[in-house]
Amino acid sequence: SEKHPFVMVIFGGAGDLARRKLFPALYSLYRSGLLDRRFAVVGVGRSEREDEQYRQIVRESVDSHSRMDVENEEDWSSFAERFHYVSLDVGTAQGYGKLRERVERCERERGIPGNRLFYLAIGPELFGRVSSLLNEEHLTRTEGWKRLVIEKPFGHDYESARELNDQIRQSFQEEEIYRIDHYLGKEMVQNIEVIRFANTLFEALWNNRYISNVQITASETVGVEDRASYYDRAGALRDMVQNHILQMLMMVAMEPPSRLNPEAIRDEKVKVLRSLRRWKSDDEVSQNIVRGQYLAGRVDGEEVPPYREEEGVPAGSVNETYVAGRLFVDNFRWSGVPFYIRTGKRMRQKSTEVVIQFKDVPQNLYFNKNNDLGPNLLVITVSPEEGLSLQFNAKKPGGDNEVIPIAMDFCNNCAEDTPEAYESLLHDALEGDLTFFTHWDEVSLAWKFVDPIREAWDRDPESLTFYESGSWGPAEADQILKEEGHRWHRAY
Ligand code: BG6
Repeated sequence: SEKHPFVMVIFGGAGDLARRKLFPALYSLYRSGLLDRRFAVVGVGRSEREDEQYRQIVRESVDSHSRMDVENEEDWSSFAERFHYVSLDVGTAQGYGKLRERVERCERERGIPGNRLFYLAIGPELFGRVSSLLNEEHLTRTEGWKRLVIEKPFGHDYESARELNDQIRQSFQEEEIYRIDHYLGKEMVQNIEVIRFANTLFEALWNNRYISNVQITASETVGVEDRASYYDRAGALRDMVQNHILQMLMMVAMEPPSRLNPEAIRDEKVKVLRSLRRWKSDDEVSQNIVRGQYLAGRVDGEEVPPYREEEGVPAGSVNETYVAGRLFVDNFRWSGVPFYIRTGKRMRQKSTEVVIQFKDVPQNLYFNKNNDLGPNLLVITVSPEEGLSLQFNAKKPGGDNEVIPIAMDFCNNCAEDTPEAYESLLHDALEGDLTFFTHWDEVSLAWKFVDPIREAWDRDPESLTFYESGSWGPAEADQILKEEGHRWHRAY
């Protein structure tokens, strides 16, 4: 594919995201030969720093977070000398002139034809303001392309998201806006599409005649960490379900796109959201969606405090750190098939996976211990391991017509390291490929699905359940599967 010369401007240039994800991603792309030789990075932050100090920060970040080690100092300096730093208060116009001059100088010195990637790795309250200032202070006025990469959260409900979007659209066209959902950068999430659409074996069975239910899990062992001020207002529903979980659901449920281009793919994903059943009453919400908050417990062998005693969390907080749900995609393909979702903090283990449970054969001819056959399962493991496992039934060797479950496993990241989500997403943004970024239609419909759930909960604080840290979540979450004769697979 074609490489483009570019200047990347990182707002929040020395912040957490830049250090943990963006510098390592840039370095890996550079080392893999995926960046044009003509590029520069301008970091923007409030503190005063010299370029040299900034490069030192980049070095520390690469040393501690990159999947590739620095090989030699010569190579490192040719990478590092492309990094510059401008100190300014990003919320006020003053200083943007200095930034524009710095960007233009990079372009002149390195022969870069004005391609500009603006990356907003800053607090969401600044997203709108910065994108307006980029326009007002003429940074968007360029001969080459201009793109805006924007992190989550994109609003905190439909209304705020729409306002933010309207504001950004004053400065950037929809096709210039790269809304990040880093789950879409994960190898195995991208692989869902390929597994489905490149294999008769799966695609032929991928409907309500053969699939019994789908289970999507994103469990974490970490607690609220140092993000209470954000997380206690967001909660798991906004933090994980509105974006990551629904994105994985769309990948599983979408119809085959007419072509493998971003418009076609995103059209199909949007149709899934349109078909997602909306709950009509508070009762329906509480019958189908469970929310929980962690109590004290043991995680990875360590005693941990309850959510309400975490630093920065108000004593009586009714914020949820866990959500499970039974969703339905009301269309021809999926009619009647439950999509179970669950995500939470302080759970037993860190695991993201999608389990497809197929229906049982019409009659069991075989005998085994419980006189039932195990289900056929396709397990797509997204993280920490990446892989696929297909579970089916076979004859027990030598047994007397006894049947046992066996599994065929494929490991995606065993032979070699696969790129980090941020690496592939950054690469896509530089190439102008929007496939794995979130379109406004997806964001807005996802909020419209999530908002009524949130409102029902706000009316009924009692809807909050509790679970012990280190467990698999509240018992109520098992109940919504039991009602359909199902249970959670794996991760037990
Ligand atoms: C982020 C959420 O979007 O995703 C965090 O804000 C969460 O709360 C994180 O911890 C999980 O990402 P990953 O890649 O570790 O599964």
